[in-house]
Amino acid sequence: MKFFKQVIDKFFISSHDECIHQLQNKEMNRSSSSFVSMSSTYNDNSETQAHAALLMCQLISKVTENILLTDFFDAEAPLTIAEYGCATGSSSLAPLDVFWKKLGKKKYVNVIMNDLPLNDWGILYETLEPIKHHFRNLLFKKMSMYEGIVVKPNTLHIGYSCFAQHWLNDGSPTEFPFGSPEIWPQQLSCLETKKKWTDAAMKDWAQFLEYRFEELVSGGYVVIIIQASRDDGSLSEKCAHTLMKVKELMMIEGSLSPQDAAKMIMPEYLKTKEEILVPFKSEPNISRWDVEEILFTELECQLKKSSMDRIIRSKEVVKRQIDSCRSFMDSSLIEAIGESKVGLFWDSVETFVGENSNCLETNYSIVQLVLKKK
Ligand SMILES: C[S@@+](CC[C@H](N)C(=O)[O-])C[C@H]1O[C@@H](n2cnc3c(N)ncnc32)[C@H](O)[C@@H]1O
Repeated sequence: MKFFKQVIDKFFISSHDECIHQLQNKEMNRSSSSFVSMSSTYNDNSETQAHAALLMCQLISKVTENILLTDFFDAEAPLTIAEYGCATGSSSLAPLDVFWKKLGKKKYVNVIMNDLPLNDWGILYETLEPIKHHFRNLLFKKMSMYEGIVVKPNTLHIGYSCFAQHWLNDGSPTEFPFGSPEIWPQQLSCLETKKKWTDAAMKDWAQFLEYRFEELVSGGYVVIIIQASRDDGSLSEKCAHTLMKVKELMMIEGSLSPQDAAKMIMPEYLKTKEEILVPFKSEPNISRWDVEEILFTELECQLKKSSMDRIIRSKEVVKRQIDSCRSFMDSSLIEAIGESKVGLFWDSVETFVGENSNCLETNYSIVQLVLKKK
């Protein structure tokens, strides 16, 4: 591996300074709405995300009880809830069940499900079909959560979101330096490039808060799980390190050009807990929001867990870990370097990993946050 690294250093990037020279910082300018979508098999390949949604349910349950105890809204009026970035719905079932159990018999509930236009809305409909009679209205809002309100002003009681807010609205703000083995900005050593990504992520986060503030009734809540990086900005998930290593090896073999490498990146930015808290330290957010809870957690890879419980064998775990990564990464990677190179990449991942499911653990980090509109 040391030898490979030396080759990479020689031919592509050798130091932070040089990276600045080779860096085009070429802007990508391609909105996520035009290419981001989870695969149609996302429901079967998102065990770790669905596990996070269960953690979110505990918070949702608490804020729903608080809402029921308040008398700030008309007792006869329906209650409105919205999910941002629902994908095909597998992680939505548990939170919707909490709302049904807590509220369903007491109040009419309107549900708004939001995601990008390219989401597979047909599968979402099928997933929610068995429970849709629990709610008075079930509406699909096909738009970016950063490009406007998805619920009428001052009508939303609880907004929630799981594993969606970290996707960048304008896609990747820049290419990475030529020959970059990195795939996520948190892996970059080139700080000049990383800064542009940080700025884009903070702009989206501020915009998210702006629109949710407009939608919520006062006293209403946002419960959100944001995929995050550790306090030092590094990524906990082992899969991210392995995928970067395989990308590096493909460049050495010559199956990926330095130009491909600059584009083969994910339009996601995993903020630290501290970055998530930044907007709440200044106006207007100090006057608008109470931060009721904030908690950092590193999740356990649910697929790895099932192999340790001997529910499935290692080879099968690796296959499912790859399917899990593909289900959220493929639309972005194909947009960047085309289908055949992406296919080759995943074949190389499979060969590199063999039966060692430790390499592809989806032990993502998350920040759980509860906000209350003042
Ligand atoms: C990893 S999936 C998470 C899905 C689900 N919430 C879960 O926890 O399993 C991220 C979802 O966020 C959606 N998303 C990304 N950017 C978005 C945006 N700007 N507006 C609305 N949805 C967005 C994606 O389309 C995708 O469905």
